Parts: sequence; structure tokens; C-alpha cells
Amino acid sequence: MSTTTVSPITSQRKKVTTLTFRQKKECGEPITMLTAYDYPTAMAVDNAGIDSILVGDSLAMVVLGYENTLPVSMDEMLHHARAVARGAKTALLIGDMPFMSYQISVEEAVRNAGRFIQQANMDAIKLEGGRERADAVRAIVGAGIPVMGHLGLTPQSVHQLGGFRAQGKTATAAKKLLEDAQILEQAGAFSLVLESVPARLAEFISKKISIPTIGIGAGLGCDGQVLVTHDLLGLFDRFTPKFVKKYANLHEVMQKAFHDYIDDVETKKFPATEHTVEMTDEEWEEFMRNS
Ligand code: KIV
Repeated sequence: MSTTTVSPITSQRKKVTTLTFRQKKECGEPITMLTAYDYPTAMAVDNAGIDSILVGDSLAMVVLGYENTLPVSMDEMLHHARAVARGAKTALLIGDMPFMSYQISVEEAVRNAGRFIQQANMDAIKLEGGRERADAVRAIVGAGIPVMGHLGLTPQSVHQLGGFRAQGKTATAAKKLLEDAQILEQAGAFSLVLESVPARLAEFISKKISIPTIGIGAGLGCDGQVLVTHDLLGLFDRFTPKFVKKYANLHEVMQKAFHDYIDDVETKKFPATEHTVEMTDEEWEEFMRNS
């Protein structure tokens, strides 16, 4: 096991806001974002100095074991968002609106966006889609809630897209993507995720709009990058998208620790004296006399 200590840098940091996002884009400084779904991960990511934490609906797949993101509910998202908010003090916290929490009506979209802010201490929300979501984005922003858009591979439309596949690869699709990005900007979104789109298109869009783009599988030309933390840590081994860089293999580390524990228990190496509670001889003798 490595003994390197990584010191937390949180104490020197100011709370990241949507204004910080804008300033970073203006200065050409990359924005960093990762997902988290629980208290210890949020604390570790925040202490490492991340700009933003997304409580993504990827929760459904990487934590809850579903095939796609569609089954996760608003209440489940709020439950995890609250834990993240307790662990992260400086990152901009973004709650991901789950499937069917904003598609039915603009009123429901505003109400559910408000729940992330009021009941889970999030700073902003994210939702998927372009022109078809412009009214919802405008209304949520109108209620004072910052909105991050999400274009390209939008996992909540997996059935409509015919699978988890790259988007914007034809001239027509690229033009529609650019228009959607401009529509979201005009509707008041403060930023948008570009997922699984050609790098040159993502770079072009990033230059055309004034709000920061956060790429995942969209190349270096975006204003920032996001990854699903469980992919980065090697905790989700069902499949690894091409755009993921694994920085650790925690699945293997966990399996080894669990195996070592089982071995220790079976061979009576655990618990050792240092893990055991004792009582004085006098108390023990008195107990024996009376039992
Ligand atoms: O749910 C999620 O984790 C996301 C990211 C992939 C951007 O939407």
C-alpha cells in the first residue's frame, strides 16, 4: 500500500460559484469536475481541489447496479445529494435531474430543480437536452437556480439514440448540436456538458458560445472536463467507455482487502490483541464469583 499523503487544500480555497466557471473560461483555465454520490467520496474529491462535483444520475449504473440511468428517482437523487453536500465544502455542487423529473411540464421541472436546492443543498442543477428543454431552462433560471445543460450523448435518451453511441458525427447532426448549444446559452444556462461528440466539433462549439463547456469524451478543446468517479477509480468494471482514463484499480484493491480479511478470520489472525477490549482481573474475578 502506498504511504504517500495528499494534503487537503480545501482550507485555502474559496467556494466555487458559477461566476468562477465564467472567469475560468475567460482566462482559459480548465474547469475540473467529477461525480460523487456519497459523503466520503465527496470529501476526498473536494479536498483534492476539484472545481465542481456532479451528483450524476450515473448513480443508477455505478452505485445502484441498473443497466442505464432511467430507473433512478428524484428521492434517490436527493438522498445521495444530501450526503455529498455534507462532505463537500468548496466545490460547486450540481444535482442531476433524473429521468421524468423535468420532461412532463415546466412547472414540475421548476419544482424538482427547487428540491435540489432547498432539500439537498445543491448550488445548481443539470438537465439533458437542447431546444426541447429551452422553456424549462428559462423557467428554472427565472426561479434563481443555475442550470447546466447536457448535449451529445444524453444517456436518458438511450432508447431513442439506439444505445450509448457518439453523437454529432454528421454535418447535419453537428449543425443541430451547435444550434442547441446556442439555444441553451440564450435560455440562460451557465454551462453545458458535451458528451461523446467529435473533438473538433466540441472545440468549435466551445469557441462559439460564451458559457463554459465541460467535456466527457469530447476532446481537449472544451473549457473543462468531467469523468464519472467510479470509472476513474476502476470501481465500475461492467464496461469502460473509450474516453475514460483509469487512475486506479480500486475494484482490485477492495477485492484483495476483502480476501485478506476472510483469510485472517478463517485462520484466527483477526482480531488480534490490539483489536480486543479487556477488563481488569478484579472485575473479572468478581463477575466469575457471582455467575
Ligand atoms: O450522470 C453523470 O454522471 C453525467 C456525467 C457523465 C456528465 O451526466
